[in-house]
Formats: sequence, structure tokens, C-alpha cells
Amino acid sequence: MYTMNPTKPVILTGVRANNDIHIGNYFGAILPIVDMAKRRSADFDINLFIPDLHSFTTPIDHSKLYDSILNNARIYTAAGLPLDNQAIHLYRQSRVPAHSELAWILDCFTGFGEMSRMTQFKDKSDKLHGDQISVGLFNYPVLMAADILLYNATYVPVGDDQTQHLEFTRDIAERMNRKFGELFTVPKPVAEQHQFFGKDQGLRIKDLANPTKKMSKSDDTGKGVIFLGDDPQAAHKKIMSATTDSLGKVQYDRENQPGISNLLEILTLVRQDAGRDVTLEQTISEFTGMERYGDFKRIVADETAEFLTNFQARLAAVDEPAIEAKLQSSEQAMNLVANQTLHRVQKAVGLRR
Ligand code: TYM
Repeated sequence: MYTMNPTKPVILTGVRANNDIHIGNYFGAILPIVDMAKRRSADFDINLFIPDLHSFTTPIDHSKLYDSILNNARIYTAAGLPLDNQAIHLYRQSRVPAHSELAWILDCFTGFGEMSRMTQFKDKSDKLHGDQISVGLFNYPVLMAADILLYNATYVPVGDDQTQHLEFTRDIAERMNRKFGELFTVPKPVAEQHQFFGKDQGLRIKDLANPTKKMSKSDDTGKGVIFLGDDPQAAHKKIMSATTDSLGKVQYDRENQPGISNLLEILTLVRQDAGRDVTLEQTISEFTGMERYGDFKRIVADETAEFLTNFQARLAAVDEPAIEAKLQSSEQAMNLVANQTLHRVQKAVGLRR
């Protein structure tokens, strides 16, 4: 059995398990996370966890949850996560009960008004009705703070939709430290996180049908979203019908040609995944000025379909017993670390001597 090295700083992040993971999550979060884990594991403990308790803050089909949790672990593995690296921990949130224990305690030090200001809550609750808007959705950021603070994480690579939650994590940690003494490691401010992780942090794949908004798994129609599990031919069709513009010339211009710019980015990413050493700038110069959008789209569609075929083959070939063993050993180790923090907090608030 291994434990975390208490002298090594911690990088921690997670991607929710629900529905299906799309190429926005894959290229915007999972691949950069896997690359980061490989590069940083000599100097950091890397905690990659599956926030499965976060999966049903909005209504889901629970008969599919168990599979989609495991699928998350498989996707990391198919994306190249080295399971034999002892500094990388891959675990399910729900298998470390300290997450929900600490979340409850933090709940009681969190203001109702403070949570009401979270923009993600406002966005998501706008799409739901009545009792579908759960208390879990409302205090989701508190559980997220517990996820981070239990492991003394310094760096938390997330997309900008999670920035407000990260700021809340810093606030609650500082508040508790002021009240009870040094309980928590406060994660670095967002600006420092961006400096540390580089500009890929800002990467945002857009919805194909509505390229001014990010590709998101909560999109209702699914027409603008390419899921990793999509049939490659169906994904081909989605790209062929992607929204573009009437300017009639391929150019990288996020303001005026968001659809075309998004396709240029997607093409670069699928080419990189295929092992080609290309940059976005190279893709842009290859296609700038092309006038037939249909031809351009066909290239993007062909190569994206090819990416899906290859990815799905890698996914089918992952070593299931190795994943199961990794989850078990990480969860055992993480329970020890998380319980240490939890006990410290329980003592501070008067639940233990
Ligand atoms: P989630 O599961 O919604 O998204 C996981 C990560 O993917 C990023 N992301 C994207 N990046 C680029 N392009 C897109 N179209 C795109 N869509 C999503 C998100 O910013 C995120 O970084 N609350 C978190 C999960 C979580 C967590 C945590 C993360 C729970 N506890 C503790 C870090 C630390 C969430 O819902 O992410």
C-alpha cells in the first residue's frame, strides 16, 4: 500500500460522471489533465478523482450511473493516464466518505446569500422546475470545496466555468482558518493557477450548432455536441451541419466567425491526438482563404470521425482489472489522507477531543 508524501504539494482535479463525456471535456480538460499528470508527477502528488456525488445534483438516469463512473476511469486510461505511476491517485469521491462529512461541516459556515450568487447555480436552475432544483445543486460548490481542502491541494486545474467555485473554496478555507487556526491549505489564487498551467486553461470548445456558447453536456438537443461515444458517422453529420457564417472565407476570427474558428480548433486537436505535430497556427495558415465551407467541413468531419473510431478502439482495449486495482489502492490511500483532515476539522469545531 502507498500513501501520499506529505512534503509533496498536491494538484487535484475532477471531471463529473454523467451522461457521456464530450470532446469539449476531452480536449479541454481530460487530455490536458493527463498530460499535466505525466509531466508533474515527479514533483507533485496528482489527485484525479471522479466527482460521482456531483453527478445527480440535476436529475439523471440512475441505472446508468455506475457504468458512467467506471467509464470515466476508462476514458482517463484510454487518454494515456499511466496507472502504474504511484504519485497519481485515481479515485471515486463516493468511496471516501470524508467528502460528504466535511461538506456538511462547511455548509454550516457558508452563507445562503453567498451560495445564491453562484452563476452556475443560476444558469442550471433556470433550466429546471420546482423540486427539480435540489438543495444539492444549490450547495454543490461546498462539496467541491471539501473535495479540494481534504487533500491540502495547492493547484486545481479547471475551466473558467469553475473559477467562481474555486474562489469560494479559497474564501471558506480562509474563513475557517481565521476562526479555528491553520486548518486548511488555501489553494493558489486563480491568476496564479493560470500562470502555472499555461494558456491551455482557457481552451473552450464551442457548441457546433451555437458556436457562441461552450459545448456542454447539459445541452438539450445534443446536435451541437460530439460525445466520445457517438457513432463516428453521426458525428460526421453533426459537423457537416455545424453553424458557420455568411462571410464565405475560412478565417480564424473568434468574434466574427466563431463557428469556423471552432472547427479550426477541433481539427487541430484531432490531428494532435493522431500524433501529428501541428499547431493551431499551422492549421489556420493551411485553410485561411478557402471559400467552400462544405469542403472545409468535410475535412474536419472526416478527421473527427477518424479520431472517434481510434479513440473508441483504445477505450475498448483498456485493461479493466488494472483500472479496478488502481481505484482500490488509491481509495485506500485517499481515505487515510482525507480522514486526517476531517479529524482535524472535527476537533476544531468541537466534535472530537
Ligand atoms: P465538469 O465535470 O462540468 O467539467 C470538467 C472540466 O471540464 C471543463 N470543461 C470544458 N473545458 C473546455 N471546453 C469545454 N467545452 C468544457 N466543458 C467543461 C470544466 O471547466 C472542468 O474543469 N464541479 C466540477 C467537477 C468538480 C471538481 C471538484 C473539479 C467537482 N469537485 C474539485 C475540480 C476540483 C465540474 O462540474 O466539472
